[in-house]
Amino acid sequence: MTETLNLAPPARPAGARAAEPLALYIHWPFCAAKCPYCDFNSHVRPGVDAARHGRALLAELEHEAARAMAGGAGRRRLASIFFGGGTPSLMPPEAVAALIARARALFDAEPELEITLEANPTSVEAGKLRAFRAAGVNRLSLGVQALDAASLGFLGRNHSAGEAVAALEHARATFPRLSFDLIYARPGQSEAAWREELRRALSLAADHLSLYQLTVEPGTRFATEHARGAFRLPEGEEAAALYAATAEEAARFGLLPYEVSNYAKPGAESRHNLAYWRYADYLGIGAGAHQRLTVDGPGGEGVLAARRHRAPEIWLERVERDGHARVEEEALTPVERGREAMLMGLRLSEGIDPARIARRSGLDFDAVVDRAMLDALMEEGYLRWLPDGRLQATMEGRLRLDAILPVLLR
Ligand SMILES: C[S@@+](CC[C@H](N)C(=O)[O-])C[C@H]1O[C@@H](n2cnc3c(N)ncnc32)[C@H](O)[C@@H]1O
Ligand code: SF4
Repeated sequence: MTETLNLAPPARPAGARAAEPLALYIHWPFCAAKCPYCDFNSHVRPGVDAARHGRALLAELEHEAARAMAGGAGRRRLASIFFGGGTPSLMPPEAVAALIARARALFDAEPELEITLEANPTSVEAGKLRAFRAAGVNRLSLGVQALDAASLGFLGRNHSAGEAVAALEHARATFPRLSFDLIYARPGQSEAAWREELRRALSLAADHLSLYQLTVEPGTRFATEHARGAFRLPEGEEAAALYAATAEEAARFGLLPYEVSNYAKPGAESRHNLAYWRYADYLGIGAGAHQRLTVDGPGGEGVLAARRHRAPEIWLERVERDGHARVEEEALTPVERGREAMLMGLRLSEGIDPARIARRSGLDFDAVVDRAMLDALMEEGYLRWLPDGRLQATMEGRLRLDAILPVLLR
């Protein structure tokens, strides 16, 4: 524990935490192959006992739900479930169905409960889409990544562009809501080529797209190859031009950038991801999953941050032994809460509400940000106040959040 919970002033009456609904993340840590750019907690394992892993997820869900509702907190409302990975489309649909049913029984599900599953667009997985829909999934997020063979080869993907488009069409006919991911700013990708690829993607008519600039993550195969000069990525102005082109093309199809890398038709935003960015409570079940849970302390509200064992085998063993595989849980300090809420919130086009930052951290807004620096960043055009009193990072600012946040936050 980094501190006891009673340092924060009471921001809301005890028990009021139940007023905000929860988001539930469920991690499936296995993939058919490891992509060379990916540093997610994903593992290639022969002969995964999927039914056993599914049972352990149910056990951990049960355990965490009981804790979230202990101490007189009452039943919590549930706004979203997100099956992420790894590759959750490798899960048996029966395991997905059982987890959804259990979550619905444990929490008070909102009428519009959003249930997303990440899927890889191989033909095998496309064949399971109807079963996932029948299990209760109402939003599919497909990892398309690129629409040409050479780029898919470079990214080490085990599906073709044709398979991806077929999976998208099948998904569109099966799920009420559909999103897909593309990775751009790839080596040698010109702005014209990206605009053309993106237009093709947009014409496939999803209501939501996640468009990520390729990053080289430490410890990945790409990190080794990049270090020895095997390829270079667009940087600086080149990357900024690609980013601006992305927003322009998406806007032509009515998709607006509501977060740094996420574009949606109004109303089609991912409610689950918005919960992270708005610094709402979320439970995270499965290997390596994180969670943030507001609890009432003797002197006010605190946020417990927990993470779980990352290795699937250890996670499984711990859950079967103890009912959960949390490695660490700490009460975040008010400063940590303020920083996290700012880090997440400034990624959003809607920006942050200083009153909410104060409420979630238990601190004055001025104790979270350096006012002089805030004014300087506004002068530079990286931040601006919106008419409704929210603080927003401009498009230039959102591109440079990694540089801005360390100087802005106290
Ligand atoms: C957990 S992964 C994916 C889901 C699924 N397993 C798949 O690959 O389709 C989430 C997304 O992050 C993106 N991503 C992962 N690593 C990245 C990197 N180094 N640079 C840019 N995007 C990345 C990819 O678009 C990927 O679809
Ligand atoms: S990008 Fe997706 S499929 Fe590839 S290794 Fe990462 S999680 Fe697995």
